[in-house]
Amino acid sequence: MCGIVAYVGPKDAAPILLEGLQRLEYRGYDSAGLAVVNGKSLKMRKVKGRVADLAEAVPARFKGACGIGHTRWATHGVPSDVNAHPHLDGEGRIAVVHNGIIENADALRQRLEGEGVTFESETDTEVLCHLIARTVKETDSLDDAVRRALKSVVGTYGIAVVDAQRPGEIVVARNGSPIVLGIGEKEMFAASDVAALVRYTRQVVHLEDGELAVLRADGFHTFTSDARETAKEPFTVDWDTGHYDNGGYEHYLLKEISEQPDTVARTLRGRIDDRFHIAHLGGLNMDARETRSFRRVKIIGCGSAYYSGQIGAQLIEELARIPADAEPASEFRYRNPVVEPDTLYVAISQSGETYDTLAAVQELKRKGGRVLGIVNTVGSAIARECDGGLYLHAGPEVSVASTKAFTSTAVSFALLALHLARVRDLSPADGRRICEGLRRLPEQIEQILKLDEQIKTLAEKYAQAPSMMFVGRVRGYPVAREGAQKLKEISYVHAEAYPASELKHGPLALINPDMPTVAIVPDDELLDKNLTTLGEIRARSGRILMIGHRTADAADDCVVVPKNETELDPILLTIPLQLFAYHAAVALGRDVDRPRNLAKSVTVE
Ligand code: AGP
Repeated sequence: MCGIVAYVGPKDAAPILLEGLQRLEYRGYDSAGLAVVNGKSLKMRKVKGRVADLAEAVPARFKGACGIGHTRWATHGVPSDVNAHPHLDGEGRIAVVHNGIIENADALRQRLEGEGVTFESETDTEVLCHLIARTVKETDSLDDAVRRALKSVVGTYGIAVVDAQRPGEIVVARNGSPIVLGIGEKEMFAASDVAALVRYTRQVVHLEDGELAVLRADGFHTFTSDARETAKEPFTVDWDTGHYDNGGYEHYLLKEISEQPDTVARTLRGRIDDRFHIAHLGGLNMDARETRSFRRVKIIGCGSAYYSGQIGAQLIEELARIPADAEPASEFRYRNPVVEPDTLYVAISQSGETYDTLAAVQELKRKGGRVLGIVNTVGSAIARECDGGLYLHAGPEVSVASTKAFTSTAVSFALLALHLARVRDLSPADGRRICEGLRRLPEQIEQILKLDEQIKTLAEKYAQAPSMMFVGRVRGYPVAREGAQKLKEISYVHAEAYPASELKHGPLALINPDMPTVAIVPDDELLDKNLTTLGEIRARSGRILMIGHRTADAADDCVVVPKNETELDPILLTIPLQLFAYHAAVALGRDVDRPRNLAKSVTVE
């Protein structure tokens, strides 16, 4: 959740670190800091607040061509200047920045205090720093000291370390929290996210769990926690800084919502075959025989990724007639799941670094499961861990709330469902119907985006409600869940999502004029049932905003979206809910792109 950036080369590190931290600020943002090595001394500045506050605190003359920086999202200890990273040892020789959680920090702290170490902060990171500082005195090499110190640590980390005695050298290590190296011209970078690197280089190398690297201006070398050298192949990132700009929009979220006609088109590009009405998905690494052999599909992901997986499960069941279901990866990994050889597992992640999802994939792999990834970030940990999969090609998603990755994931599932279905019983005619429906999506999203003014007015009207109910039946239910999720995470309006059919089994008791309902009512075989539900809400004086393909007398307000094939409609029905949440959040004066307590990528347990 926090951000790390590191630089060693011929230039002053501080401006490069500050620029990198700004690009990472969306990941975590309650404090920021940096340290540079100059001659044989360390200089450090850190503040509670934003990177802009740190930039003000760094003096103009802050020389040093080797340094590390950090943006923090507090886990151990409140956000404060003292708890901000980097952390230094007592002598000001070693500086450490850290993402992740050291689980045995308390025990290590007690041991170190018993040995006379004084702690400045409440953080688990400072423990690491003192451990390294003690070890470095016993050995002549920083990388060896870091490697040995990490042996006594239980938990997750991505770290970057500098030593005042070794200007020109940075040691980084990864275990459960991403570290990417960036290769420049006679300079090296490292970061927790490629976003911090793309301004300087697009040649990157991902560290694996249990791997460390030493960076110097003229290159790097990597090795395992057992000191075995590893060979790494750099690859080229195709995102550049333009992808990370807000493109003149007031918020990244609005930019990312507006990009969806393009991002959906990119997800589809080159993947629809009009001759056989099938999907071309080479990245799955499975032949037709293997594709036919699965008897069940299990989808895992967290938060919005999980909800898009629910849409995916329905698409797979409807089109391919294979039993499919989605489950939060965070639950799945803890319940000792039964892993079956004839089940296809699909992991979903925008970032490709969500720790719960990664851990679930690792558990599946360990038990011999076949796992595909539907991932946005090329080369990310989850993508590397999976046996094959699809990249979304949606471009980087910066705003904490997921929008374009959600729709591209649902579109990817439509492609996967088509693929699984056409090696089974889906007819060429139905295959063609789905292919044509998929092709219509970008244009139809464009039409929905034109409803922005109407949706803004509605959002301003309903945003004052203390609480909202979102309901949908079958295909509409994951749409309702995602709508409620978007609203609560960025506007902080309490929102509950329920299957419309469950309303009368309990939550109907909540309905009153202060609890409006957003009802997802597509024109499908359940239309009449949904209209009956609207009548039940209406009878309890509940206000209703209906999202569907027509208007209805029972609803106070209706947003009418273009109709596609019934199976694909959930993708389109999601878009008005994104705009609704966005405008509600703006109307309430929220920090839309950086909602409180949340970070873009949850790389801790
Ligand atoms: C979405 O709006 C949320 N911020 C969150 O639920 C997110 O989808 C979840 O944390 C999973 O992230 P991932 O797709 O990067 O794995």
